Amino acid sequence: MKANLAKILKVSPVNGWGLFAIFSIPMCLFNYIVMMDADISTPEGVSYMIGYSVRWAVPFIYLAMVASSVKILFPGAISFWWLRNRKYIGLVFALGMAWQAVFIYILSTFFRDYYFDEVYYFRDELEGSVGYIFLVGMVITSFKFARSKISNFQWKWVQKGGLYFLWAYAFSVYWWNVFYYPYYDNYLVPEVHDYLYYWIGFVVFALRILAWGKQRLNINDKNSELSSQLSLIKMVGVILFALGVVMSGTGNYWYEAVSGLISAPEWSIELGLWLPFWPLEPFISLLLMSIGAYLITSERVRGNNYISVID
Ligand code: HEM
Repeated sequence: MKANLAKILKVSPVNGWGLFAIFSIPMCLFNYIVMMDADISTPEGVSYMIGYSVRWAVPFIYLAMVASSVKILFPGAISFWWLRNRKYIGLVFALGMAWQAVFIYILSTFFRDYYFDEVYYFRDELEGSVGYIFLVGMVITSFKFARSKISNFQWKWVQKGGLYFLWAYAFSVYWWNVFYYPYYDNYLVPEVHDYLYYWIGFVVFALRILAWGKQRLNINDKNSELSSQLSLIKMVGVILFALGVVMSGTGNYWYEAVSGLISAPEWSIELGLWLPFWPLEPFISLLLMSIGAYLITSERVRGNNYISVID
């Protein structure tokens, strides 16, 4: 059974450009069909298509982002196939975003008043533009001709930086949709897809944290035996991790207090004007979970020299 699956996952229709076609053809068909129905001769119709087209793209940035974590956590035929095809999954995302780019172009060019009255907000524009710059860089450098012209370090910077930035953009949009607007701005009732995309985005990063943790444990295990006792450092780690998990589902309760606290200093207000995502509300829970995982996996026993805070 396993051998059969491994064989199937090697055939060309489910790899490379074949896989790209499997995903991108329905995506383009649905975008086209819904566009025909959406009356894009009105700004509202175009705006609707901006949102609709992104919903086709986002799952693919999530799939690309989680590929390496899945391989680390669950090595096997499927996770190897998944990682092997990450480039093509990323290209499907880029195609989905190209649809959004076309609708943004239509809205900002042919419905300028609507665009500047209803859509334009400098900070969002800045984040969105950085996202598109990364996206173009990622697409170009995923082909040999461009990759060979840059160093490994530059390639990794563009690919990894872009992956994290674009995940962060999508994830944060849905965080605001789920935890902020319904409670504070009162104009948006979250839809099923808002919850779905928020939680999937969250799980994607949580798996990243677990994969980092597993790698750190493996490195530690090579030279040492990991302490099984619950030391102070580990305990703090577990508490931070658990707090992060709780905060990930309760943003509406702590948003105002935490946001007010971080945004209070003058320098923070200044940063908030131009630094993407600052003051990072959507990411606080994941940050706590990362620090927690770091602490949980950082302690070890080296030979007889027991390193622990409370022992
Ligand atoms: C300058 C560039 C960008 C502009 C002007 C822009 C504009 C917009 C607008 C107007 C909407 C709301 C559509 C509606 O529901 O009426 C939207 C939604 C969204 N955009 Fe962008 N965007 C940009 C870049 C990006 C990038 C780089 C991403 C990265 C993934 C992204 C992800 C999203 C998501 C996830 C939504 C919510 C879609 C939904 O309703 O489910 N956008 N964008």
